[in-house]
Amino acid sequence: MNRKEFLKMTAGLAGGVAGLPLMRKLAGAATAEPGLPGTVGAISAAAAARTTSAPLETLLAQAAAAGDDDHFWKLVRGQFLLDPGWIYLNFGGLGSCPLPVLNRLIECTQAEERAPSAGHDEKPWQDVKEKLARALGQTCRKEDLGFIGGATEGVSVIVNGLALKEGDEVITTTHEHVAVHSALLNRMQRNGIAIRLFEPDIVSGLGNVDRIAKLITPRTRLIFISHVTCTTGQLFPVKEIAALARSKNVWFALDGAQAPICVPFDIAETGVDFYTCSTHKWMMGPKRTGFIYVRPGMLDTLRPQTVGGGSSERYDAAKGEFVFHPTAQRYESGTQNDALFYALGAACDFVETIGADRIWRHNRSLAERFYQELGQIPGVERLSPEEEAYRTAMIGFRMKSHAHTQIGEHMAKDKIRVRPVTEGGLNSIRVSFHINNHNGDVTAILDSLQKLAGVKP
Ligand SMILES: Cc1ncc(COP(=O)(O)O)c(C=O)c1O
Repeated sequence: MNRKEFLKMTAGLAGGVAGLPLMRKLAGAATAEPGLPGTVGAISAAAAARTTSAPLETLLAQAAAAGDDDHFWKLVRGQFLLDPGWIYLNFGGLGSCPLPVLNRLIECTQAEERAPSAGHDEKPWQDVKEKLARALGQTCRKEDLGFIGGATEGVSVIVNGLALKEGDEVITTTHEHVAVHSALLNRMQRNGIAIRLFEPDIVSGLGNVDRIAKLITPRTRLIFISHVTCTTGQLFPVKEIAALARSKNVWFALDGAQAPICVPFDIAETGVDFYTCSTHKWMMGPKRTGFIYVRPGMLDTLRPQTVGGGSSERYDAAKGEFVFHPTAQRYESGTQNDALFYALGAACDFVETIGADRIWRHNRSLAERFYQELGQIPGVERLSPEEEAYRTAMIGFRMKSHAHTQIGEHMAKDKIRVRPVTEGGLNSIRVSFHINNHNGDVTAILDSLQKLAGVKP
């Protein structure tokens, strides 16, 4: 029996029977909202859907058709194991997998442990890539995507895979994640590249294109910035930056750890050459999943540094022959944890069931209410872009009266989880709003801040 047949045989068993004891154990801390249809005791709607006639998709479709937004989002929130004693506002830091994703992960892990087999079947692997490509836009092709462990890995694949040499210049921002700055500094020490920094313009989105243009010299080879910054949730005008890069014959790479599902976009339309993302944040896939995207025609420009089984089409040490795989699979090598990526497929399904556009509107409305009301709290400095078009579901701020560590501690006492930001010397706080959140969470964090600012008892 091959892996595929075995998976088929055990799928029902793992999810419907063998999966349940583990689900019950996991669901000990579940946010099962009492009285919710689709939530049976401590078992999720997803698990329950296997034993009742109403799968999650049907329940959501019914709520949507009835125009019952509250019920729709309650059903969605019922899919998370998040501790109900805390308000989690940090999907930008690390996501929580909804139950359909966990269930798939458990099923596939169990199948693997019952019949370990090296390598993976092409069909389900490609199916997940197809789903991911769909989530990334109409023209994204699965051949342009390689599965990796996350954005840190992807950033290193890009920075180390390009033919950069001594004196070559790379433009980036002061607000990048440690992943980008470390990878560039590493190449600076190893190969003598130069890093040119600019501070993001939060007053004018297009001002960022000007800031980059001013830094371009004949030695500039690469612009590598975030699609959405991890500091303040700032969205950059990536199409305009891509056009600038193209006109100057400069490569353009994006760290998209904070972008897919956080903001709607079509990856091919951005014009970016190289893109990477951790899918364990906004996309709600399992931890240690991510992807790299390479624009068609650019594969041979980005040479993989880690190679092995899977990265070549053919090789022959005796003949000195080595031919890379013709797709972005060349960035995948060696044994994979297949279950993680099959579960990522379930995360893509989950997003599709809810609707990426609906998620965006939901998250933005919470973030926007927070941004607006934050502006009325004395002593608060908002750090997210002033133009609404460049704001996302993440908002950054700091307070004159309190250090970011004090704000974080105060919020933790109120059982609110946010992310301290030290990048770019900001010493601020970042708040991420996702589908686990609702208006009550916005009220709670605003109350907490008003108390800290001394405008509320
Ligand atoms: C913008 C950005 N880049 C890269 C990373 C690194 O992601 P990971 O640790 O999943 O590799 C993060 C994580 O927070 C991030 O926000």
